[in-house]
Amino acid sequence: MTKVLAAINVRHLLIASLFVMFAAFGANMASADVRGPAPKQPDLQYLNEDSNFWGKIRQGQEGRGGQLIQSQGEDWRLLRNGPLLKYTATGLGAMVALLALFFLIRGRIKIEHGWSGWTIERFNMPERMGHWILAVSFIILGLTGLNVSFGKHVLMPLVGKDMFSTISVGAKYLHNYVAFAFILGLAWVFIAWIKDNFPRSVDINWLKQAGGLFSKGVHPPSHKFNAGQKLIFWSVIVTGVSISLSGWALLFPFETNMFAKTFWLINGVVGTTLPTELTGIQEQQHAVTWHNIMAIVMICIILAHIYIGTIGMQGAFDAMGSGRVDLNWAKEHHSLWVDKLETQDKLDKQPDETHQADAGAKAQPAE
Ligand code: HEM
Repeated sequence: MTKVLAAINVRHLLIASLFVMFAAFGANMASADVRGPAPKQPDLQYLNEDSNFWGKIRQGQEGRGGQLIQSQGEDWRLLRNGPLLKYTATGLGAMVALLALFFLIRGRIKIEHGWSGWTIERFNMPERMGHWILAVSFIILGLTGLNVSFGKHVLMPLVGKDMFSTISVGAKYLHNYVAFAFILGLAWVFIAWIKDNFPRSVDINWLKQAGGLFSKGVHPPSHKFNAGQKLIFWSVIVTGVSISLSGWALLFPFETNMFAKTFWLINGVVGTTLPTELTGIQEQQHAVTWHNIMAIVMICIILAHIYIGTIGMQGAFDAMGSGRVDLNWAKEHHSLWVDKLETQDKLDKQPDETHQADAGAKAQPAE
């Protein structure tokens, strides 16, 4: 894992981001309107004229037998295959490019005082289990979800139609079932970490200094989670809940009517019956669109999170790997948290077997 990460350089990341963008823009996305032209004669007495008859049907007109074609479905298809895919790809590509640029300029953020030779516990086993259930399920959902959006343009040309079909059927089932693990992980992490994620006055100072992310030697004080992490936490909760609700509406179609109820409340017409045009297939179309938008926002945020937790910052991964972090790392990034542990006599310092050799030469205590 470490070797693979070390082998990834800025050029790889830039190429990957450009590939994602060009794959979407270059792909032959079918976004032409398939609706027929509006009927020339709007009067129903002309229904016996074939062209007007089919025109009306394709425009979504309802007759005695109900609605044969839901015209908004075409609006949805145009949105989904057009702007939605393009902006999604641009967002993803831009995020990877930004991270690559950040890495190019700032490099890996090092423990400035070197490895201390001592570790302290940052996250216990239940906390790490919750995190990894959330993380692994999200990565599976992200990849299988992106296959629904881009697979036809990116994977199918590589593996062929038959293989793509097999992969996509499996991916769809995986997506549906792993969703429950994601909801579990989300609830777990929420319960475990909410107490450390309420805004505090030191967060303002941290934000003013951008957490020292852009300048060496700057370490604004922070409690267990800094302001940047609190933003990640709340974004994960808000987008995660939103994705879960819209995903639930897709797993159990026509049952929840969440969008109809929301619009209905917003329009202030509580007390009347639900607008029927929203409770059917249009409800599902809104749910897909919203699920898609929220998922892409969350993927972009999580890309930044994964970057900082792996190649972006020395010593960070250990917090979620072994659960124990280097003492100097902790003092540099979460000084108020270390102070509190010291005051409560809960520091529980243990010798760091892995970095003993590095520690001897360079270590000086962080102030
Ligand atoms: C390979 C993937 C991932 C890695 C390596 C990773 C790594 C980490 C690390 C090292 C921390 C602790 C930071 C600290 O010590 O302060 C952390 C915290 C956290 N992770 Fe992850 N993570 C990954 C994926 C995810 C995913 C997919 C999610 C959400 C869907 C997520 C949500 C969180 C949250 C909410 C926190 C607490 C807030 C924060 O530290 O930003 N992580 N992660």
